[in-house]
Amino acid sequence: MSEILLKAVAATDAQGLRDIVLRANFTPGASVYDGDDDHGTLHIGALSGNLFVGVATVSHSPLPGGSPQQAWRLRGVAILPAWQRKGLGSRLVEACLRHANDHGATLIWCSARWEAFSFYESFGFRVLGPLRKREGYGDMEFAFMTLSPT
Ligand SMILES: CC(C)(COP(=O)(O)OP(=O)(O)OC[C@H]1O[C@@H](n2cnc3c(N)ncnc32)[C@H](O)[C@@H]1OP(=O)(O)O)[C@@H](O)C(=O)NCCC(=O)NCCS
Repeated sequence: MSEILLKAVAATDAQGLRDIVLRANFTPGASVYDGDDDHGTLHIGALSGNLFVGVATVSHSPLPGGSPQQAWRLRGVAILPAWQRKGLGSRLVEACLRHANDHGATLIWCSARWEAFSFYESFGFRVLGPLRKREGYGDMEFAFMTLSPT
């Protein structure tokens, strides 16, 4: 695999890759998330030369129904299919966790699709609460997962 550069990217770049990888059944532009433009939000991209192959985002955001902690949300972890299972998702998530920890996170959480549970568990995330469906995602099931930094 050619060398991959990780670097902070613009929210619009993150949104474009999310549209392709995570929201193929939605109209383009559906991948704008609350907090995308917040101060402190990190969009970290993986580039192979000029080709943008992966992205992940972390932002300061409370866990729904959770206690008022310094909670950060990991979301939009998306790797182009041809680049999956090569360690890029892990590198992007690690960069996001470092960013949240450097900003004083006491809790990091995500809303993970069932297929990705084992990926997030490998960082120490654990499922919190029941599986649920989300509008527009058909039968796909999601659950909140949380990680308490050490
Ligand atoms: C899930 C995803 C982000 C993982 O990124 P990746 O670069 O492919 O993953 P990595 O190569 O870093 O994988 C590290 C480990 O996580 C686990 N893992 C990764 N993807 C997995 C998957 N789809 N199913 C089960 N385990 C998975 C494996 O243990 C893997 O190690 P291995 O390849 O040695 O078995 C990526 O495959 C992706 O974008 N998938 C489609 C979109 C998606 O589901 N995003 C998550 C939304 S919640």
